[in-house]
Amino acid sequence: MEESDRAGEKRIAILGSGKGSNARAILEAEHCGKLGARIALILSDRPGVGILEVAGEYGVPARVVNPGTSRGGVLSDEALAEILRMVREAEIDLIACAGFMRILRDPLLSAFPGRILNVHPSLLPKYPGLKAVARALEAGEKETGCTVHLVDAGVDTGRILSQKRVPIRGGDTVESLTARIHEAEHQAYVEVIAGW
Ligand code: GAR
Repeated sequence: MEESDRAGEKRIAILGSGKGSNARAILEAEHCGKLGARIALILSDRPGVGILEVAGEYGVPARVVNPGTSRGGVLSDEALAEILRMVREAEIDLIACAGFMRILRDPLLSAFPGRILNVHPSLLPKYPGLKAVARALEAGEKETGCTVHLVDAGVDTGRILSQKRVPIRGGDTVESLTARIHEAEHQAYVEVIAGW
C-alpha cells in the first residue's frame, strides 16, 4: 500500500471467537462516519463463527488462525507469529479484541505496546475471566457492567479505559443480562476507539 493511501487513517484489526456483535457495532460506527478509523482485518481462532460472517457482510478481509494445541486458552507460538505477520502485513495500528477467548502474550504484546484493547462483560477488577455475567448474577450483585481496557500479560488486568454500569434487575437471567451488557459494550467500545 502506498503511504499516501493511508495518510492519517488509523487501521484496526478485530480479533474474535464468537458472534461478533461488538465487531458489528464497530463496523456500523465506521460506516456511519463515527469511528474515524478503518477496520482493515478481522481474525478468528475458530472457523464458521458469526464474526466471520459479519466481516463478509461489511467486506472486511477475514482470516482464521489455527490456535494450536496449547491448553487453557493460550495461543501456540506459531499462532502468535501468524497473527503478528498478518497484522503487520495489513499495516494495523490498533488491535481490538472483541470476544477473543485466547490469551495474548509476547511477541504480540511487545509489538503493540498500549495498542491492544479488550472488552470484558463486568466492572473489572470484579469478575475477570470466564462466565463473568453468570458469576455477577449468582453473587447477587445489584449492578454489573462492562469494561474496555488495555491488554497486558494477565487475564483482564490491563489499564481500564472506560466502564459502563448496567443494573441487575429481579428476574434477570444470564441471557437477559448479557443482552443489556452487550448494548453497553457496543457503546463503550465505539467511544474508546473513536477517541483513540
Ligand atoms: C462480549 O460480551 C465480550 O465482553 C466477551 O465476549 C463477548 C463477545 O460477544 N469477552 C470476554 O468475556 C473476554 N473475557 P460478541 O462476539 O457478540 O462481540
